[in-house]
Amino acid sequence: MRIFLIGFMGSGKTHWGKQVAQKLSLPFYDLDEVIVSEEKRSIPEIFGGSGEEYFRNREKEVLEKIVDENSNMVLSCGGGTPCFFNNIEFMKKYGTVVWLNTQVDVLLHRLLKERVQRPLLKDIQDEDLKHYIIRKLNERRMYYEQADVIIDKEDAISMNDFIQTVLHA
Ligand code: S3P
Repeated sequence: MRIFLIGFMGSGKTHWGKQVAQKLSLPFYDLDEVIVSEEKRSIPEIFGGSGEEYFRNREKEVLEKIVDENSNMVLSCGGGTPCFFNNIEFMKKYGTVVWLNTQVDVLLHRLLKERVQRPLLKDIQDEDLKHYIIRKLNERRMYYEQADVIIDKEDAISMNDFIQTVLHA
């Protein structure tokens, strides 16, 4: 089985992905990490040096490669992955897509602490971050909502409930 975790920056995709993979004894991949190791440069360096369009192309290529090479795995996507090309349809075709629909205030709290590696947040002041999250989330919701499973309140759910919800999709 293939499980794709999608959701906004800071929604907990990597955290949950690692744990779910371990619990189900599946290989774990983090899409951003695979891109970084192939490119041998950080996400901000890729955005800064080659631009977002280049990154989105690489993201699609690496997504397709991981799927091609693994019929069983858990993949934590980047926040924008399902929103470009036909990536959401592609993921749904080849596995179960899980949206971590984390509340805005939880995202805000996490992103205020972890924004350095996220080029999209580079020019946003702390006081504008909540507004940015709401606006971007509204833009992206139409993609995220296509997930096969939606997890609300991921900050309050147990690992067992999470796994059961995903497995019974
Ligand atoms: C992005 C999210 C990031 C990373 C890149 C772009 C986005 O991943 O792929 O900075 O468009 O939301 P995380 O969701 O892991 O921060």
